[in-house]
Amino acid sequence: MTQSSLTVKAPGKLMIAGEYAVLAPNQKSVVIAVNRYITINIELNQKNIISIPKMNLENITWQIKDEDIEFNVWDKRLEFIKNAISTSIKFLRENLVGIKSFKLQVESELEDPLTNKKYGLGSSGAIIVSVVSAILLLHNNDKKLPSLDEIFKLSVIAHLKVQKNGSGADIAAATYGGWIEYSAFDTDFLLNELNIGGKLKKIIYKPWPNLIIKKLMPPTSLKLAIAWTKNPAKTGPMVNKFQEFRNKNPKAYDEFLNESSICVKRLINSFNTNNYEKIIESIRQNRNALQNLDYNAKMSIETNKLRNLCNIAEKFGSGKSSGAGGGDCGIAFIRLEEQRYELYKLWEAADMMPLDLKVSKMGVSIWKF
Ligand code: PMV
Ligand code: MG
Repeated sequence: MTQSSLTVKAPGKLMIAGEYAVLAPNQKSVVIAVNRYITINIELNQKNIISIPKMNLENITWQIKDEDIEFNVWDKRLEFIKNAISTSIKFLRENLVGIKSFKLQVESELEDPLTNKKYGLGSSGAIIVSVVSAILLLHNNDKKLPSLDEIFKLSVIAHLKVQKNGSGADIAAATYGGWIEYSAFDTDFLLNELNIGGKLKKIIYKPWPNLIIKKLMPPTSLKLAIAWTKNPAKTGPMVNKFQEFRNKNPKAYDEFLNESSICVKRLINSFNTNNYEKIIESIRQNRNALQNLDYNAKMSIETNKLRNLCNIAEKFGSGKSSGAGGGDCGIAFIRLEEQRYELYKLWEAADMMPLDLKVSKMGVSIWKF
């Protein structure tokens, strides 16, 4: 029997190391899923309806038009959902599954409840992963999510249609959960496969060149701290600047890739050898690599607040900006759990908000039938 009402959750994410470099071939990064979620409630309905109360988008209707879908309103914020729906429908049709209409509601814990400002925890990736999963699940007779590899690859394809330049690290975290070593797929390979009109069911079962997703096991004693700068940042324009820099200054760009890869490898290696001091040092080195990039490319990755955040973290271990920077969150590894409170107090005094997040071991999952 097909399920008529169900709930799916996908976690947000934070980059721990290797951001920007991960956009280049064969560069490692470390990303985590965090225990703040996008929740999708989906149920069969006579009409196709979407509601995202947090965005004041209620009762949006949509219909299938040829290969695409059409909403009754246009809103830039709906683009990711639109592509998640159209990609899922295309995949289901290729598998000769009859498409049912449904009502879908998106709830998010990835914004500050007081100001509604985003934390920068990868909401677009988590939305795509959860919407794709919810739609496939609704159409699945055996009450199971498809494989995580299928969800990941379909979500990447949906994401790529909106934003051509993402590494997919956020989608990997939302899909698989936990600590992940991630190297990005070859974007040109994927764009070419899509451009020549290949079937999704063929593309997703092929190996994707360069893609590596491995679970990491950091030491259980690892003490991660996270603070929000209260300044939302946009990743897209920062990545564009990074790509301009690659074209204008290939030598400094290569140096950055080299520096980043050394510290990410060192970090992963020190996880394996349980070397806490080396973990702290690797994060400091990655901050340094990003600072050099920032200086050479004039990108404003480490804003004044992020600089404060890292300098305060230095008293207890080390810290760095997380992800594209320019605002959002920074992270720190501290030596002693007893120092956490003092760290938080200093961050608060510098107008930042400590976020008491835990790593979500769970990736996308079913919560309720
Ligand atoms: O700021 P965030 O969490 O969106 O992270 C962006 C990370 C980049 O490496 C700069 C881009 C990417 O797609 O990996
Ligand atoms: Mg960000």
